[in-house]
Amino acid sequence: MRITVLGTGYLGATHAAAMAELGFEVLGVDVDPVKVDALSRGELPFHEPGLPELLRKHTGTGRLRFTTSYEQAGAFGDVHFVGVGTPQRPGSQAADMSYVEAAVTAIAAAATRDCVIAGKSTVPVGSARRLAALAAEHARDGVSVELVWNPEFLREGFAVADTLSPDRMVLGIADDTGGAAAEAVLRQVYARQLGSGVPLIVTDYETAELVKVAANAFLATKISFINALSEITETAGGDIRTLADAIGMDERIGRKFLNAGVGFGGGCLPKDIRALRARAAELGVGESVRFLAEVEDINTRRREHTVATVTEMLGGSVVGAQVAVLGAAFKPDSDDVRDSPALDIAARLHSIGAEVAVVDPQANANAAARYPRLDYVESLEAAVAGAEVVVLLTEWARFKAMTPEELAPLVAERRILDGRNVLDPARWTDAGWDYRALGRRATPAGVPEAVLQE
Ligand code: UDX
Repeated sequence: MRITVLGTGYLGATHAAAMAELGFEVLGVDVDPVKVDALSRGELPFHEPGLPELLRKHTGTGRLRFTTSYEQAGAFGDVHFVGVGTPQRPGSQAADMSYVEAAVTAIAAAATRDCVIAGKSTVPVGSARRLAALAAEHARDGVSVELVWNPEFLREGFAVADTLSPDRMVLGIADDTGGAAAEAVLRQVYARQLGSGVPLIVTDYETAELVKVAANAFLATKISFINALSEITETAGGDIRTLADAIGMDERIGRKFLNAGVGFGGGCLPKDIRALRARAAELGVGESVRFLAEVEDINTRRREHTVATVTEMLGGSVVGAQVAVLGAAFKPDSDDVRDSPALDIAARLHSIGAEVAVVDPQANANAAARYPRLDYVESLEAAVAGAEVVVLLTEWARFKAMTPEELAPLVAERRILDGRNVLDPARWTDAGWDYRALGRRATPAGVPEAVLQE
């Protein structure tokens, strides 16, 4: 069995390498010749731990190849995975389906052998049924093209592990005999995962499409829930981390995705909740997910609150103040700055007059391409040199490990805002820092919390 992967962005490149690792011959297809050339040489155009090694291993043996030619792909593949992007449509909240439609049309028209198209992109509910009709319409006479929906749940930073050993797999199939035949093909592709106990949920197209958006909407809601509570602990007193630990011990709630801080960003969560709202409105059931507007508002308020707290720490104005921003990526172990809270906050601080020095272990270049007017530096030490306030916004290991003693000789003022609740408050306040965190009430510098409690 031979496999093609259409679209070699984050999802497609990972999936292609993972399929090669499973032992298949794989052809990755992308309309961008620059990307195809780089990948063919075994070079990954973005940061993802473990993926460069996998890519080099399989491009090296020729098991994994890349092309811009749909014609070649149509002659090659038994299964065509679709992993092209569905970005937010400019001027709208809805997803832009044009890349998916173009890929499905092109591969259906190019297929010279019976095949299955397996959609992996995140799409609005109702798309698969339409795409199946589109594929049937463009397929050549005598060639059977079946469509299944097989959403992808990988996280950036864990993409390889999530693809090779997912929590579950979901397969949406057509409700006719073709659907059952396509299911059998996909079961063969994923035989190794299924053999090792990964559950497979076989369902209709609509459920499969919704599993992905529902999961991301739930995760975003969980984050905004704890961030909403952090607005209360900041005012009433209390510690948001302890609160999250305590409610998270209830198995029905669970501790994951209850880390309060500057909120969520990235290429998926923000776009997916907007697209779900847009799709629900199109279906005439907009009120069903009206709460997601609140989820997004809470998320935006965290960014505004962070800027306000920095301003307050600086005595009421940031104009001309040296601010060290630690982190630009939307999360650690990623160079992705799409909808990044860290970069947004850095840009907001700059726009109101602060002198902002940004350091990120991987994302400086992507951040500079988006906001060229910030000052990007290569080390933590360079970022904090002369800083009047240090603002930790992405919890990279290096930033979590830094100590007050290490930073004190470098900064102009010992002030730190922990935007991810990853530092030990007592350690910093004991060392004489004005330590603030999102969701923990500020304690005056130098006074341990224990003393305040007495
Ligand atoms: C997400 C989903 O997790 C994944 O299943 C889906 O396939 C794609 O979208 P990803 O965008 O890689 O993955 O990032 P994720 O780890 O989910 O984090 C999203 C954002 O939420 C980040 O900005 C992160 O910092 C933030 N976050 C996460 C929190 O603020 N608090 C938390 O407790 C968890």
